[in-house]
Amino acid sequence: MAVKEIKSGTYFVGAIDWDRRLFDELIPLPDGTSYNSYLIRGSKKIALIDTVDPHKKNILIENLQKLNIQKIDYIIANHAEQDHSGAIPKILELYPNAKVVTNQKCKNMLMDLLLIPEEKFIIVNDGDTISLGDKILKFIVAPWVHWPETMLTYLIEDKILFPCDLFGSHLATSNLFVKDEVKVYESAKRYYAEIMMPFRNNIKKHIEKISNLHIEIIAPSHGPIYNKPEFIINAYKDWISDDVKNEVVIPYVSMHGSVEKMVNYFIDALIERGITVKPFNLTKTDIGELAISLVDAATIVIASPTVLVGPHPAIVSAVYLANALRPKVKFASIIGSYGWGGRMIEQITGMLSNLKVELLSTVLVKGHPKESDFKSLEKLAFEIAEKHKTIEKINSTQKHTD
Ligand code: FEO
Repeated sequence: MAVKEIKSGTYFVGAIDWDRRLFDELIPLPDGTSYNSYLIRGSKKIALIDTVDPHKKNILIENLQKLNIQKIDYIIANHAEQDHSGAIPKILELYPNAKVVTNQKCKNMLMDLLLIPEEKFIIVNDGDTISLGDKILKFIVAPWVHWPETMLTYLIEDKILFPCDLFGSHLATSNLFVKDEVKVYESAKRYYAEIMMPFRNNIKKHIEKISNLHIEIIAPSHGPIYNKPEFIINAYKDWISDDVKNEVVIPYVSMHGSVEKMVNYFIDALIERGITVKPFNLTKTDIGELAISLVDAATIVIASPTVLVGPHPAIVSAVYLANALRPKVKFASIIGSYGWGGRMIEQITGMLSNLKVELLSTVLVKGHPKESDFKSLEKLAFEIAEKHKTIEKINSTQKHTD
């Protein structure tokens, strides 16, 4: 993106990565991403908030040249991950008088990750401010969104919050501000599911903390900028709440059709009971879609064939991810088939240790499912429907105890 002015003296100088399709060599990026860097020109000092991924550093440098930036006083590092900090060494080389402003934890990480010398840092604590002359930056230490060192920066005069990854979206777009709310909602939810969901309790505290600020603009580190902050804050409040929806997510693999027959039968049994079903054939699905579905669902049912003595490796990978993402699901079950034996159910159950779920009945079938197996699936669908009837009660009880 070309340089764009957000408010008088505050500019987007980051880079759009239209082609990136994988993040952390794990997370699919169907819509690319951006590395947002912001320049704030005060009457006395100039600050750069975060930089860009190292492979896009030339774009940042060109953008600074377009603005004829001769000096940078402060490089604010909200987050040490390299997609935002990776170009700091190059900026320090080009602007040798610049100081990196960050908290102690982030400083230590930047020294480890990027070998930035200690004398280059100014350390700030929660609530500290620095003056750029006519503009003041306030720092809000907000750990675990999604690393331990993260902080947010608030530009007091212009009421702009720079929250690093929090509220971001992996979305490459030529629009500086959110234009298509439906599209951005979907991208931001994917981002939340894949990156922020394990930290929803931390996020609750941070959202409470920033509720005292008058925020007109939220300028995150990825994706378009929010000029209606309530759009993304309300979406986050929904995602981080303890409320779950009448939905069942079914990650599954079928090798010879038995599990597929079980899943198809089970889907119909759930639909007949008014339950929203989201099946994911793991040999075809984008794991981001699976993660998104786990943001709201009340129940996960894992469906696997037995390979040697355990679950299919694609199931192991998906269950590992689901467990690591710590969704707020309340109920879980396992269904599947086996040829001669195995410990598939026990192995999958053992992998769900992070999820605070009630384990429902399981259905394990020898070979092709038979009449009695379909009856067991009916019974499980009934059990889930009964449990889901309690959701509204659970949701409202949680609201009272919040
Ligand atoms: Fe966008 Fe955690 O880096």
